[in-house]
Amino acid sequence: MARATTHHVCSACGHESAKWHGRCPGCEEWGTLVEEAKPVAQAVSGRAGSAGSRGRALTPTPLAQVEAPQVARLRTGIGELDRVLGGGLVPGSLVLLGGSPGIGKSTIVTSALGNLVAGGHSALYVSGEESAAQVRLRAERLGPAALVVPIVAETDLDVVLATIEAERPDVCVVDSVQVLHAAGLTGAPGSVGQVREVAGRLMRVAKTQGVAIVLVGHVTKEGALAGPRVLEHLVDCVLSFEGERERTYRTLRALKNRFGSTNEAGVFEMRDEGLVEVEDASARFVAEATPRAPGSVILCSMEGSRPLLVEVQALVAPTELVPPRRMANGIDRNRLALVLAVLTRHAGISIGSADVFVSVAGGVRVDEPGADLAIALAIASAAKGIPLGSQDSPLAAFGEIGLTGELRHVAHPDRRLSEASKFGLERVLHPGLGLSTIGAALEAGFDPGQRSVRNGAPLAGVESRPHTAIPH
Ligand code: TYD
Ligand code: MG
Repeated sequence: MARATTHHVCSACGHESAKWHGRCPGCEEWGTLVEEAKPVAQAVSGRAGSAGSRGRALTPTPLAQVEAPQVARLRTGIGELDRVLGGGLVPGSLVLLGGSPGIGKSTIVTSALGNLVAGGHSALYVSGEESAAQVRLRAERLGPAALVVPIVAETDLDVVLATIEAERPDVCVVDSVQVLHAAGLTGAPGSVGQVREVAGRLMRVAKTQGVAIVLVGHVTKEGALAGPRVLEHLVDCVLSFEGERERTYRTLRALKNRFGSTNEAGVFEMRDEGLVEVEDASARFVAEATPRAPGSVILCSMEGSRPLLVEVQALVAPTELVPPRRMANGIDRNRLALVLAVLTRHAGISIGSADVFVSVAGGVRVDEPGADLAIALAIASAAKGIPLGSQDSPLAAFGEIGLTGELRHVAHPDRRLSEASKFGLERVLHPGLGLSTIGAALEAGFDPGQRSVRNGAPLAGVESRPHTAIPH
């Protein structure tokens, strides 16, 4: 690509500047400006119009008259992945698959390409991080289907582009976008300038040749796609692979999807033979739960449009440490801080000088306000040392907690409740029962009389108590 000049772009905020600065004039971060190829101005055709505009005027078309050809999606054969993508890969689209190292990105793309080839599609695996032999060793573990995937091990962007143009595959995976190197830029591979240039040029190939391209990207410790935050606006779809490397379960979420809902999520398990879809995730998490122990509550959460039952566990232990530890696994730390503050202020549960650990069992991450109530109940149960459930009747919950200690409704209560009843959870605390404050919910949770807080039948048969008397 002809390049007139370069300019400098901030890797934190995207601010563009002709000169290099030690400190970004946009966001005032230090050392974030990176050299980047300046886009070449397009030659403008057409006659010069009035008021200095140089383009030809277009006639707008009502959306209903715009032709939108129905493209057949490329099914990857991995049900959970197809669902998160909105039904499969769209030809000519650019997908960014992010996740921390070792989470299973290379594994899932290898399996997907194997299935696509088996389904009669042409595929290409561009491996920049691993040699072809290393990828082969992985593919051997995944079974014979994965061994048919054509691979090139290359990091030079020009060579990769030439290969895609020559091979014209239906689907191409670039593993990873951070190791490709665009000649002409001085920045190191993986720098913002390089990553932007690489993705931009791959996108042009994707659009002009109708190749679906999957860019694999690494996530930094802070959770941002390293450098590639700047890619999010460019690509059609951003998928994020989450979970912990040491744990078995991983979730795949769509953070952005131009061809489907961003509410979808898939659950996978890493086994010896690769990533296996977990379709009965709720059943497993409920079976593994420890309802008789203090600090255990089952959360009826939503993973996209799908309900998922997970166990929230809490441990409250006295400590000499100042300040005491607050550890959150699978939930947001700030959410935990908020729930702790509300418990102290509005429910009289003081945990000031104790360590608090909260974890979602199985390594699943729950990122929704509906988790608050289950977290609060688990912490309160751990703090008091009193279990909330028994083996035959575990306690489940969902609901958001507000700053004034009120319980707030969350989306899809019906789906959450029906998932709970599907797995035999009959005691479910939620705002729809007329529990309006965190205090009332705790009272109901700890009161064995509330065994009859039956799923779907709000408090029928319960003697009237002030906080439960307003069924709705
Ligand atoms: P990998 O896909 O290489 O992760 P990423 O590309 O995201 O960095 O694989 C991650 C881990 O999964 C690796 O440490 C080994 C493990 N693994 C299995 O347990 N079973 C398998 O069949 C495969 C292929 C990998
Ligand atoms: Mg990898």
